[in-house]
Amino acid sequence: MKKEILKILREAGENPVSGQMICEKFGVTRQAVWKNISQLKENGYDIESVSNKGYRLISEPDILYGPDIESRMSENCICKSVECHQSIDSTNTRAKQLAESGAEEGTLIVADRQTAGKGRRGRSWSSESNIGIYMSLIVRPSISPASVSGLTLISALALAKAIKSVCGVESHIKWPNDIVIGKKKICGILTEMSSEMNYIHYAVVGIGINANTQKFPDDIADKASSIMLESGKKVDRAELIAVTMELFGGYYQKFVEAESLEPFIEEYNEILANRDKEVRILYGMLEDVDKNKTECGIAKGIDSDGALIVETSDGIRKVVSGEVSVRGIDDYV
Ligand code: BTN
Repeated sequence: MKKEILKILREAGENPVSGQMICEKFGVTRQAVWKNISQLKENGYDIESVSNKGYRLISEPDILYGPDIESRMSENCICKSVECHQSIDSTNTRAKQLAESGAEEGTLIVADRQTAGKGRRGRSWSSESNIGIYMSLIVRPSISPASVSGLTLISALALAKAIKSVCGVESHIKWPNDIVIGKKKICGILTEMSSEMNYIHYAVVGIGINANTQKFPDDIADKASSIMLESGKKVDRAELIAVTMELFGGYYQKFVEAESLEPFIEEYNEILANRDKEVRILYGMLEDVDKNKTECGIAKGIDSDGALIVETSDGIRKVVSGEVSVRGIDDYV
């Protein structure tokens, strides 16, 4: 009910909403409404009681609170419920546990802090409290396990669009799925899945966003940044989460139907950071190839499988994510 109350109060803006109206709408007593409002106030929501008129939402705290995030989503949003933690080891680990025990598609785990945040390739993901967004969405797509990397690419697309819409700043995708502003990374995605040969039990799309980080350690300061540092404005984290989910849901439905990235190639390539720029392919991850082998070429964009097409002097390469890395010629991007 807190979700609904927040939604009504936010939509009413300056206008007070009568307690009676809330009671009638949800078929609950005045006491129940009052109790929920009191609990919201305890959580830092400044709700004014205007005598004989009702309640007015004056301000909202910068916290990650499940009912608040849910109150910003539409009925048909892919995200069906939000589980929020002040501190957790890793939202991906929690999401996998829940998925194993049958949690439905659309369950979202959000944390204000992670004590063991995971990055790709066994790296860690710095996850301090109050400044970042750490979230993992459970999905159960009916697609082949071979197509699962597409989920990460559509997540990147949804994120870049959500950042533009909520924070008003342009970001780009560094293939396959890092979000960068300028030449600095502000967001990473780690997708994990449980599958059989031809069947996905579930996938967890884990997203880490440097939202309001003010300072980065010296060793990564030239490669990492935050949305706030780049846009000069504090990020409304709850709003960014909700809008990302709305946009992701739209892309996800189309992607699962087509089981291809074909419908998104143009949109993705438009915001591809390296498009038509020189890149270096690092082959170090491939087993049967010299670990130091690199090759340069011009990145042309992705194909319907999400592979990056690179024009080299020896011909076209279709670079597959997870097998190679791609860098800018002098920098990370
Ligand atoms: C990367 O290395 O770029 C991917 C980073 C992914 C980090 C996110 S934070 C939320 C989720 N939980 C984790 O433990 N990792 C992902």
